[in-house]
Amino acid sequence: VGGVELETLAAEFGTPLFVYDEAHLRSRCRESVSAFGDGVAYAAKAFLCQEMARLVEAERMRLDVATGGELHVALHAGFPAEGIIFHGNNKSEDELRQALAAKVGRIVIDSFDELERLERLIQPTRPQPVWIRVTPGIEAHTHTSVRTGGEDSKFGFGLAAGAAAEAVQRIERNPNLALVGLHMHIGSQIFETTPFEQAIAVMAELLLPLGLPELCVGGGLGVAYVEGEVAPGITEWGRRVKAAAQAAGIPESVKISAEPGRAIAATAALTVYQVGTIKHVPGIRTYVAVDGGMSDNPRPVLYESGYEAFLPRAAGARRELAARVVGKHCESGDILVSDAWLPEDVMPGDLLATPVTGAYGYAMASTYNKVPRPAVVFVANGQARLVVRRETYGDLVALDF
Ligand SMILES: Cc1ncc(COP(=O)(O)O)c(C=O)c1O
Repeated sequence: VGGVELETLAAEFGTPLFVYDEAHLRSRCRESVSAFGDGVAYAAKAFLCQEMARLVEAERMRLDVATGGELHVALHAGFPAEGIIFHGNNKSEDELRQALAAKVGRIVIDSFDELERLERLIQPTRPQPVWIRVTPGIEAHTHTSVRTGGEDSKFGFGLAAGAAAEAVQRIERNPNLALVGLHMHIGSQIFETTPFEQAIAVMAELLLPLGLPELCVGGGLGVAYVEGEVAPGITEWGRRVKAAAQAAGIPESVKISAEPGRAIAATAALTVYQVGTIKHVPGIRTYVAVDGGMSDNPRPVLYESGYEAFLPRAAGARRELAARVVGKHCESGDILVSDAWLPEDVMPGDLLATPVTGAYGYAMASTYNKVPRPAVVFVANGQARLVVRRETYGDLVALDF
């Protein structure tokens, strides 16, 4: 990866280890900018650390943050506030105050309660540019936990009962808020562009009479995790989105933007583990236990997500052993790869890698069972640099009294 052997990285930084190919991250960012133009944002929730924020800024993308914590990390890394889009379905007063004080580029208003909080907090110094998050009533074909565009959603203002239109009127009456656009996000890990096209047609009905200059279609583009899956690329997604906007009568002057997270970060990284225990259960299956698990990748447990696995010492070897790759946590659900194929000679001490772990892996990591979170390295041109150090046992008691 990036010109460095995974064995070398494991020896230097230990395992489990998240390894990001920096050139891959940068090329996905560049693809996004060329597909959508300079308003496109990276969705920080997929993976954020200070170096990631700096990389995103260097690649001229904006940054979507969804909590005060993500906002803090971005600002601390020096990300310019005017490039930040502040999301969240339950922004607190403190978070709104933090965003207003920093002068973030866009606040995306998600509910009437939030609007009320914002109306109370906003100072008549300069109007705060805002978007409204709208649920267009389109169901994307993806896991129910990451489906967000239907009417039955905790996010945003619905169209059917007129909530979105009412929010528009209320914001337009407030001289301290500048409504500059609409936002939608219909879900995540979506393999088809059709739901985006349908949702854009619905959004156009609200956008056009208002003459608003911006429409953000959110994130959600899927990536292939296992053999046989195929996802459209960012370029194709951008082309389809633009064509759908044109077909819906949205003029070229309207800035169409997006917020890919997974499509930028997922395929840029893999996780390297070390195999510790192998258990053959005759007639049932083989368990291969590694030194991480659901604490560094909860996606298999949360969404039954599939992954591939391989041994870096034999990356091109035939994988003929059906095995279940599990972690070291105290529950049977602690599965990393439910139906993996590995070389027959896998043994304790081997390194084992799972590709496509760059999004919602480290970002969702926990210290369950007091397993310290892994380190993260960026690799480029034969050089690796530590961007997040491994958590220590000392860190595990740092918050305790
Ligand atoms: C508002 C918003 N934008 C963008 C994203 C990023 O989605 P993805 O990583 O699927 O591209 C999310 C994910 O939940 C989101 O809620």
